[in-house]
Amino acid sequence: LQSAPQAASPPSTVPEFAFAFDIDGVLVRSSDPLPRAHQALSYLQSQLIPFILLTNGGGKHESERVSDLSQKLQIPLNTSMFVQSHTPFASLDEYKNKTILVVGGDADNCRHVAEKYGFTTVVTPFDILAAYPAIWPFSQHLLPYYRPFARPLPAPIDPSSPSTSLKIDAIFVYNDSRDWGLDTQIIKDILLSKSGIMGTLSPKNGKSAFPNRGYQQDGQPPLYFSNPDLLWAAKYHLPRLGQGGFREALEGVWEALTGGQRNGVKLEKVVIGKPHRPTYEFAEKRLIEHRKALLAKHGGRLGHLKRVYMVGDNPESDILGGNSYKSPYKTDWVSVLVSTGVYVEGTVPAHAPRMVVGDVWDAVRWAVAQEK
Ligand code: G3P
Ligand code: MG
Repeated sequence: LQSAPQAASPPSTVPEFAFAFDIDGVLVRSSDPLPRAHQALSYLQSQLIPFILLTNGGGKHESERVSDLSQKLQIPLNTSMFVQSHTPFASLDEYKNKTILVVGGDADNCRHVAEKYGFTTVVTPFDILAAYPAIWPFSQHLLPYYRPFARPLPAPIDPSSPSTSLKIDAIFVYNDSRDWGLDTQIIKDILLSKSGIMGTLSPKNGKSAFPNRGYQQDGQPPLYFSNPDLLWAAKYHLPRLGQGGFREALEGVWEALTGGQRNGVKLEKVVIGKPHRPTYEFAEKRLIEHRKALLAKHGGRLGHLKRVYMVGDNPESDILGGNSYKSPYKTDWVSVLVSTGVYVEGTVPAHAPRMVVGDVWDAVRWAVAQEK
């Protein structure tokens, strides 16, 4: 593998293995590509070895992120090989014609993503703040930033007329919150309201009428998080708090307000993203489809996909997920931990990978050597 990838010629037999690459801490650090990421991906493309990008990141539509990454990594990519944190939300058709709250991301990028997914009525916390500034006293200084992309609410917040007041049917955290205070306040208001009607307070005031049942089963809207990462590898040399940090803070406020589990008002939530099974199932299906399309273009008999090398920097998401995923297609997922992100070389990772390497090019060389 020492030769320049460009010199490599496509194989005659179709490889029966593939890769799933995490992005942050493996291929990039925020906007900076990692040194040997291009080399690793261009080698695989020259050898027709399929790969997908599987990230807990998000905040823009898949098409936009793919073109950003193609440019940054100088590698042709397309959405068939790309799964990000909120991609699975696109299949939640039952909420497409309901009113949803979308939280997180820069400006109103995540609203545009949700609308491209087919959600017809999308409200954001800053829409609510712009319409009712008093709802959160501590983000007034941000109103000049929010107003240019805030939209009028689909209904007023009028507790005296619940039937015509703004009702939120589901809450989705698409990406990292940029205003933890505002977002926590709005989510709290909705979860403690009467069935998602803003401005109201459930008579149970956070105490479930059904002990040991989830609070939302009393009519409160479901709460979805797209990414469990407590920490992630950004440009700064030490890991940064991720969406999991925001969730933990929200759960702390919920606990303080309602007594939480002790009072039978456990905060019901759905958390997707690595290491959770639904994300790996979704990613494996996309990898199998992508591999079929890629290899159909180049002919050759398409054998069974035997192994997927899951290359990541975070033991809690990439390694735990890769180790615990049991494929319905009997594909063996092999976790490979790189030392260019959250994981610090020389320390003992919380979840043992099949292999620890320096960077993504080392990961590719090791995996290809296993297949010889
Ligand atoms: O917000 C992105 C961060 O949680 C980590 O993303 O690409 O390392 O799964 P990634
Ligand atoms: Mg990562």
